[in-house]
Amino acid sequence: MDLMTGPKTKGGRGPMKTKALTALAVVALALVGCAKPGDGRMKVGFAQIGSESGWRAAETNTAKREAASRNIDLSIADAQQRQENEIRAMRAFIAQRVDGILLAPVVSTGWDGVLEEARAAKIPVVLMDRQIQTEKPDLYLSSVAADSVHEGQIAGDWLVRKAAGKPCRVLELQGTVGASVAIDRKKGFDEAIAKTANVRIVRTQSGDFTRSKAKEVMESFVKAEQGQPICAVFAHNDDMMIGAIQALEEAGLKPGQSVLTISIDGVPDIFKAMVDGKANATVELSPNMAGPALDLLIAYKKTGKVPPKWIKTQSKLYEPDTAQAEYDRRKALY
Ligand code: AHR
Repeated sequence: MDLMTGPKTKGGRGPMKTKALTALAVVALALVGCAKPGDGRMKVGFAQIGSESGWRAAETNTAKREAASRNIDLSIADAQQRQENEIRAMRAFIAQRVDGILLAPVVSTGWDGVLEEARAAKIPVVLMDRQIQTEKPDLYLSSVAADSVHEGQIAGDWLVRKAAGKPCRVLELQGTVGASVAIDRKKGFDEAIAKTANVRIVRTQSGDFTRSKAKEVMESFVKAEQGQPICAVFAHNDDMMIGAIQALEEAGLKPGQSVLTISIDGVPDIFKAMVDGKANATVELSPNMAGPALDLLIAYKKTGKVPPKWIKTQSKLYEPDTAQAEYDRRKALY
């Protein structure tokens, strides 16, 4: 057995080999773009979840810009939405003795081991856009993220206002199973609609934060509904809403008109959908998590002072009245 690639499967590149190659690709990616030791620049590794959504791509691009503007050498590893790839990338960063690690944790549990390794190597870790569950919060320096419970509450309160006391059956598209943002957005939304009896979720499933999965899920929801009135769709991100809009339209329904839509992120495509009358609202999540996170690392390196555990980014509701202006502005930024 090859120690690098593990057991071979019959017929060449089987699942084991593909998995090992993916892992190698992640580690290789982590190594790309690293400056030679001793060039004096601060070196930071970013274990990024993947490129599942427009928001994620914007966060990655923003991180590159923010690092460049601070003369930081940033290496980004794309984990293709797998926790084991993120852990491998972090180990590669630790081996390179980077000055700090940014981690966007795909799921909330299972990080203590690799965080202990980072701490043993005296490498501070800042979480970005998602939180983790741990008994040992000292294992990471800080986190830069929105309050996802609050995001869900904003979405739920909006829908309660729009339903205006009428019966409202809601279809929910959840984010990645086990991700803090999916758990918390659901919690906030559930709490907000629990204040009234007329709004209730009748179907809920994960669309994994992607357009394609959400479209599939929405198609199966519509089928299962068998013509019952669908009042609203709540999607944990805009990309899933775009997939849902396609499925609803293909089924002859009118999202943004007879079916209310509310989602989270604020990507250009959702503003375009609002301009076209196919979506009703979104709650903005700032894609600039890296700017504040890099500033935390710089300050910590300079002073050794431990920053607050959570730097909260703002969440704001947007509706069609400003959609055209927001679309024009964001198109250039994303
Ligand atoms: O963690 C942030 C979420 O992850 C964004 O809302 C979503 O688009 C992304 O995939």
